[in-house]
Amino acid sequence: MKIAIIGTGNVGKAIGSSFVRAGHSVIYAANSVDSARHAAEGVGGTSAAGVRQAAESAEVIVIAVPYVSAAREVATEIAPVVGGKVVIDATNPLKTDYSGLATEGGPSGAENFAAWMPGARVVKALNTVFAALQADPKAHGVEIDALFATDDEEARTEIGALLGSLGFRPIYVGPLARARELEAMAFLNIQLQMSAKGDWRTAFSLIGAPSSAVAGQD
Ligand SMILES: NC(=O)c1ccc[n+]([C@@H]2O[C@H](COP(=O)([O-])OP(=O)(O)OC[C@H]3O[C@@H](n4cnc5c(N)ncnc54)[C@H](OP(=O)(O)O)[C@@H]3O)[C@@H](O)[C@H]2O)c1
Repeated sequence: MKIAIIGTGNVGKAIGSSFVRAGHSVIYAANSVDSARHAAEGVGGTSAAGVRQAAESAEVIVIAVPYVSAAREVATEIAPVVGGKVVIDATNPLKTDYSGLATEGGPSGAENFAAWMPGARVVKALNTVFAALQADPKAHGVEIDALFATDDEEARTEIGALLGSLGFRPIYVGPLARARELEAMAFLNIQLQMSAKGDWRTAFSLIGAPSSAVAGQD
């Protein structure tokens, strides 16, 4: 699958390396094309481009930029070229001081992305998995759960299979509105790491997940 990753920081590079390892083709884009190129060189076999060009050339787009400062700008830039395409929102809409979610009391970041990009098939995924584990989904010796939400039935199947191809156990948690809870879960995990001075490798595992929710077993 041809995947564009917008944002080449911790998440972009980590998930990009997993996509490449699984045989997918990755094109990187960031604020500066130089940082996209740098990320592309880091994982090999990939390329770099401007944000809209990368989105236009890909089948699936992953957004991995800071939410408050960049989400709307990126969405506006790619909206004209992502109609009918799957856009994975991997962001967490953290306040800049990490004290809470900037979206508190309103729609989730993912629902905002869907509103900013009419026609795009938005999937909330990967936001609950820290970057180190995105790069190595089996680091704990078990499959890490990749919880995802979308309103689009075909995207549910496609992205379930894509996440599975990386080594995650993909769990569909419901429509895009469930991104509110996925973003809150990620915030909880971040707060835990900050207060306990952890190693940023905690992950969620849903014991006894119904097989109808697990992609590939449904
Ligand atoms: N870190 C984690 O473990 C983790 C896990 C799950 C989800 N998340 C979420 O994923 C997102 C990215 O996190 P991160 O840790 O990877 O951040 P990061 O290391 O700070 O990287 C951010 C990237 O976004 C790019 N960027 C910023 N503004 C942009 C714009 N307007 N257009 C295009 N690209 C832009 C930056 O490009 P330049 O380098 O060119 O400035 C940089 O490559 C955040 O929303 C975060 O909450 C993080």
